Amino acid sequence: MREKIESARGVVLITGTSSGVGLASAITAARAGFTTVATLRDPGRADALRAAGDEAGVELDIRRLDITDEASIADAVGSVLATHGTLDAVVNNAGVGSVGTLELLTMEQIRAAFEVNFFGTIAVTRAVLPHLRANRGRLVTVGSAYGVAGQPFNEPYCAAKAAVEAYLESLAPVAAEVGVAVSVIEPGPVSSSFVANIPVDRPAMLAAAGDYGPAFRNYLEHVPRMIGSAVQTPEEVAATVLDVLTDPMPPFRVQTSQFAKDFVAEKLADTDGAAVVSTARKWLGATDVG
Ligand SMILES: NC(=O)c1ccc[n+]([C@@H]2O[C@H](COP(=O)([O-])OP(=O)(O)OC[C@H]3O[C@@H](n4cnc5c(N)ncnc54)[C@H](OP(=O)(O)O)[C@@H]3O)[C@@H](O)[C@H]2O)c1
Repeated sequence: MREKIESARGVVLITGTSSGVGLASAITAARAGFTTVATLRDPGRADALRAAGDEAGVELDIRRLDITDEASIADAVGSVLATHGTLDAVVNNAGVGSVGTLELLTMEQIRAAFEVNFFGTIAVTRAVLPHLRANRGRLVTVGSAYGVAGQPFNEPYCAAKAAVEAYLESLAPVAAEVGVAVSVIEPGPVSSSFVANIPVDRPAMLAAAGDYGPAFRNYLEHVPRMIGSAVQTPEEVAATVLDVLTDPMPPFRVQTSQFAKDFVAEKLADTDGAAVVSTARKWLGATDVG
């Protein structure tokens, strides 16, 4: 596995490359010598990717892949094998955010977060695993520090990312037995359009928030203060993606910044959940926590 990917780099397929971390990862991987299959759910949104590829002077193989559409996954994987004859690595990057809380969201909105972030990621993984197994390749999935420690007013997103991480943590030892390395990347905040892309009308939700209004408002005001200067660029996260793609022995869980590492560390040491819950309650304005 090591020699193959390090010496020949091989073919990597990346999902969700129209913007942000996916776009930056495609450029970074292509620059590093991977044959890069950059996929997006809507080929009409490939302009930024094409422009970035031209600017970087790299060649990208751009294909359609909607991770919620199994036929589109099968088509993309089949066409990659027909063209390149192999698939050595996959980066599950596509994802969508959510905002709100249980009583402010419909079941449809809650299911939608799982449809993309959990079922979509698992469907892609299921489709590519036989090919990664054949090549003793690797699977890199962009999770989130917020999939480790749940965040208020982000319940469906955090739950779906936690589910992905638990699924892959369970899969990792099994996949290792058949030669496939499985890793999850855990970014903290990233300066992409991710938050702006969340399909929710925040002012309307806030206006209809009722009893949740003060905590929701405090949370929205608190977030920029909390993340402060910890926001990373998509290119910084892409550098970690490349590290994991080329590391001879990639760890399972990889944070992309000290902020993300501290965040995840607090949760992993918090065996009764008291620290994470009381920290988050303070963000919402609670005065009865130490
Ligand atoms: N931004 C953050 O603060 C942050 C923090 C931690 C983790 N992450 C994770 O990082 C990853 C990348 O997010 P980003 O920050 O780069 O945000 P982004 O710019 O919004 O990128 C998300 C990408 O996912 C694509 N996508 C959404 N649904 C899809 C589907 N059904 N099939 C295929 N592609 C789909 C989007 O395509 P369209 O253009 O077609 O919508 C877009 O290319 C996500 O997994 C996210 O959860 C982000």
